[in-house]
Amino acid sequence: MPIATATRNTQDWRTVRFEVLERIEKLPSLSNVVAEFLELARKEFFTAKDFEAVICKDQALVARLLRLANSGIYGKPRSIRSIAEAVVLIGLDDMKKIVYAVSTEGTMRRELMNYRYEPESGFWAHALAVGMAAREIANAAPACSLHGEEAFVAGLLHDAGKLVIDDFLDPGAGQRHITRKEESEVVGLDHAALAEYLFKQWNIPTTISAPVRDHHANPLETGTHIGGVVIQLAQVVCAAWNVGQEGTTDLSVEVSLERQQGVLARLELTSEQMPQLIWDIRKNLVGIEDLFREA
Ligand SMILES: [Fe+2]
Ligand SMILES: [Fe+2]
Repeated sequence: MPIATATRNTQDWRTVRFEVLERIEKLPSLSNVVAEFLELARKEFFTAKDFEAVICKDQALVARLLRLANSGIYGKPRSIRSIAEAVVLIGLDDMKKIVYAVSTEGTMRRELMNYRYEPESGFWAHALAVGMAAREIANAAPACSLHGEEAFVAGLLHDAGKLVIDDFLDPGAGQRHITRKEESEVVGLDHAALAEYLFKQWNIPTTISAPVRDHHANPLETGTHIGGVVIQLAQVVCAAWNVGQEGTTDLSVEVSLERQQGVLARLELTSEQMPQLIWDIRKNLVGIEDLFREA
C-alpha cells in the first residue's frame, strides 16, 4: 500500500522500510476494546450492561476504571464493585471518555523526544484535547457525517505516526518545528500517511484512519475526508490555547478563525455558530487533567 509507493526523497526506501516496520512492530497495539466500544457507541441506545459486557473483556481496564470510580474524583470516595455501578455514579459520557483514554494510553501516552511538546505529558494532553474538541465539532457541524465518538478517537490518534517517526529524527531536532516534508525525507512518509499504514496493522476502521490521513490535507478538496477537516479545526482551537505545547495552557485566549474560512465552509459552520461551539469545547477541556490524572 502507501508504504510501497513512497519511494521518494534521498534515502533508499527499501532500507528505511525495514526499520520503520520494525519500529511499528515494537509499538504496543491498541486494545481491542476500542474497536468494540466504537461499534457499541454507534448504537442509538445501549445500557450499562451492554457497556459492561464490552469493558469486561479487558481485566486491566476494569481494574483501572473501578479504581478511578472509587478515587473520590466523582464525589466522596465510595465502594463501587461493578462497572454498571460506576456508570450510574459517573455517567455514561464521562465513562466513555475514560474508557477511550485508558485503552489508548498504553500506546499514546509517551514522551516524544524530538518533537516540540510540553515535556512528559504534552503529546498525550494534545491528543486528548484534540479528541475532545473533535467530538464537539463533529456533533455541531452539519456537513459532518462522522459519529462524535469516532471523531474523538480519530482526534485522539491523529498524530500517532509521530510515535514511529520520533525514533528516526536527529536528537535535538525538536528545538525547532519539524515539517512534514522533513518527516518524508527521513522515513519516506509524513506522520499522517504513516498513521494510515499503522492503523491497518492495528485493524482500525477507515472511519478513523481516513480522517487521520487527511488531517493536514486541503479542506476544500472534495477527496479530503470530512473527519480530517474536523481534526484541523480542533487543532486550531487547541493550538490557540496552547494545550500540550511548551508553556502554559490558557483556555481564555480568543481563538482566531480568520484563516479558517475554508475549513468552516467545508464543515458548513457559520461564524455566528462558532462562539457557542468554542465555548462548549472550552467547557470540556476545563478539568481535563483531573479527569485523567487517575486513569
Ligand atoms: Fe496534532
Ligand atoms: Fe498532525
